[in-house]
Amino acid sequence: MPVADPDSRAGQRYTTPEILDWVARVHAPHDEALARAFDAPEKHGLPAIQLGPSEGKVLELLLKLAGARRVVEVGTLAGYSAIRAARALPADGHVHTIEFESKHARVARENVAAAGLAGTVTVHEGRALEVLPRLVRFGPFDAVFIDADKANYDAYGRWAAENTRTGGLLVGDNAFLFGRLLEDSPEAAAMRRFHEEARAQFDTVCLPTPDGMLLGVRR
Ligand SMILES: C[S@@+](CC[C@H](N)C(=O)[O-])C[C@H]1O[C@@H](n2cnc3c(N)ncnc32)[C@H](O)[C@@H]1O
Repeated sequence: MPVADPDSRAGQRYTTPEILDWVARVHAPHDEALARAFDAPEKHGLPAIQLGPSEGKVLELLLKLAGARRVVEVGTLAGYSAIRAARALPADGHVHTIEFESKHARVARENVAAAGLAGTVTVHEGRALEVLPRLVRFGPFDAVFIDADKANYDAYGRWAAENTRTGGLLVGDNAFLFGRLLEDSPEAAAMRRFHEEARAQFDTVCLPTPDGMLLGVRR
């Protein structure tokens, strides 16, 4: 009989597409607004690189657990994760999300409005490295979620460390860099710096989701 635990600790997965779909339908179902945002990339010809339903629900629950009110997201796409995040917040909470593709930003704003969250989510259009300094005045933040260009994760992580309150949350998706984390490339080096610098300022773990999700609680 196979020994399951060493295999799973070494990275073997017991999921199948059918299992992933079933658990997402049980625990992270889509209502109309979430379905609209989730399906938007395919409908509008954007890359379908949004969080999966279960990861979106993880983000939502983490923000609830952290009692988050002020949130920054780097990488909006069509607004799926921004809607997940916004739903975790109290009535006076706010999500500032950053997107540099104007078509993505337009589609996201439409989806956010359709979700009834136009007053809760602001889509800031521009390159994150240029927009983030303008958001400092809205902080300190309760959570920063990073899900954009991987070569700048280290810079986004440093901004998060400077602008997150003690006890606040850092979440970074694609922390395994699509399996290339340990390669000899500038992008992989930046992602490793993100991990190591985050560890210095936050209490961290990298959840072994399919592409890794770094979590940190600001010290
Ligand atoms: C993975 S998608 C975000 C998915 C979204 N968080 C979700 O789960 O619904 C990454 C997005 O970041 C945007 N992006 C990439 N580099 C960026 C940058 N330097 N500044 C702002 N946005 C950027 C891309 O255009 C893309 O829409």
